[in-house]
Amino acid sequence: MFSTKDKENHSKRRRIIADRYANSNVMREGSLHGLQERSENFMKKCSELPDQEMDVYVWLLYEDIMREVSFGGNLAKRLLGLYSPALGMIINSGIFGKPSGAPLSEKLVLNGVKKGGVADFTLVSRLQEGKFGLGPIDIASECMDHMIAGIETTGDALCFLMWQISQPGYEKIQERLRAEFNENQGVSFEQLPYLEAVVKEGLRRFPSIPMSFPRCVPVGGRNIDGYWLPEGTVVSCQPYSMHRMDETAFPDPEAFDPERWLEEEGLAERNRLFFAFSNGGRACIGRHLATAEMKILLRDIYSKYRTLPAESMTADMSVDDQIFTSRPKDQKCLLKFVAWE
Ligand code: HEM
Repeated sequence: MFSTKDKENHSKRRRIIADRYANSNVMREGSLHGLQERSENFMKKCSELPDQEMDVYVWLLYEDIMREVSFGGNLAKRLLGLYSPALGMIINSGIFGKPSGAPLSEKLVLNGVKKGGVADFTLVSRLQEGKFGLGPIDIASECMDHMIAGIETTGDALCFLMWQISQPGYEKIQERLRAEFNENQGVSFEQLPYLEAVVKEGLRRFPSIPMSFPRCVPVGGRNIDGYWLPEGTVVSCQPYSMHRMDETAFPDPEAFDPERWLEEEGLAERNRLFFAFSNGGRACIGRHLATAEMKILLRDIYSKYRTLPAESMTADMSVDDQIFTSRPKDQKCLLKFVAWE
């Protein structure tokens, strides 16, 4: 789907897949169970830390297969190959280091597809429906792209967010999260306004893909904001600017302030400008899944622990621009997990 430039074919493929990523499907017991299990593994790891310290950058992208996919910077490279084939070919040729194919993950996905017997709510089961006429390579390639699109983005967003709220001066955010969790035990993570505000502010301030989402001006050209753009012109828009430019909607835009999402006044405009998942026909299809994953993990962590930067943490956490995606510059984020008293 990612690489389908033609609008009609793209929409066709997207229509096949869309229901698997609908919030109603994400909120099904089977999908939630998988997310909860992932969070429980993370919590188990937290409870076993000998010195309470964890490199959350690594653990948010954990499991060997995930690491292989993510650490190779594959999303950035694949997108680069798609958006700028000439530049992509040079970068992926190995001139800038070992090319990072993902043979292990590719094999795993392909074998999984061939084996069959997958749960009925999954993407694979949908793609395997005979009426779509898709072969195993096509299905595996679609799944592989979704894996890559989902892991790095969600992991990086969580990592930046947790680092931010672990800084001195931000303890109140953690305390307020904990209070909301305590007061709402048994309530769905979807119904927690402060958690929603924290996640949204994290994605506003640290969008996993801060850079341009290119689009082609359609046949006939278009007039945009008084400028005539001939058909085929590549235009783009990026979350980095959308989340900062309008200081009426986002006063003090560099400040990390979840409260701004709780104010009724101007909320519709803030939501309109929120661009971390893009908008329109090519917007992130995994938005509900990513949000659910982030919320479940944050709820589990901050119900039990407060986090602060580990004493030995000297790595550079500034945002490293990976052409399309972003990640912490030194790819390391050591946090200390201290159980609440
Ligand atoms: C915080 C996490 C995430 C962020 C910030 C994010 C962001 C984005 C953005 C901005 C796009 C549009 C790119 C463009 O317009 O060119 C996109 C597309 C996409 N995302 Fe996500 N994403 C996240 C998580 C996920 C997850 C968990 C999945 C699935 C497992 C996923 C699957 C996809 C797919 C398949 C597309 C292509 C959609 C299409 O071409 O129609 N994403 N994502």
